[in-house]
Amino acid sequence: MTVNGVAREVEAPPLARLLDVLRGPMGLTGTKEGCGEGECGACTVLLDGVPVNSCLVAAGQCEGQALTTVEGLHDPNGALSTLQRCFVEDGGAQCGICTPGMLVAADALLRANRNPTEDQVRDAIAGNICRCTGYQRIVDAILHAAKLASQHASTAPQAGPGGAP
Ligand code: FES
Ligand code: FES
Repeated sequence: MTVNGVAREVEAPPLARLLDVLRGPMGLTGTKEGCGEGECGACTVLLDGVPVNSCLVAAGQCEGQALTTVEGLHDPNGALSTLQRCFVEDGGAQCGICTPGMLVAADALLRANRNPTEDQVRDAIAGNICRCTGYQRIVDAILHAAKLASQHASTAPQAGPGGAP
């Protein structure tokens, strides 16, 4: 499978939970376990771009597929992404247990919809439980990131023919 853009091979029983394979042999401990039964969203990763609860996915189902975990959300230069910075600056993360799953779910939303409404943001994170923030700061952080991304897009140089600036 490809994990965060890198081809990875791992030996594991086919029914091993993806969550355990990520946190164990792959060493990607950013993905968290909350409930272990598909209720909290702390373990959310993207499987071929779609958010899934990795505690409910068998590792064997992921053969040949592309996975993105929270470790893969940073900017290409390794810096925090706009979304990650907004979570930090806007108080979207407190204890941090829900944060990787929230970031992954929000990232999927912003890739599909660059200008979501507050209701659409709340829908996108409906499967992610947070016991600390009361959700509003998380929603604000996601909306802030969307706003910054659209401002950046509107000030970026227009691509010319062939994609050249
Ligand atoms: S740990 Fe997977 S949904 Fe809670
Ligand atoms: S920040 Fe603690 S559970 Fe969300």
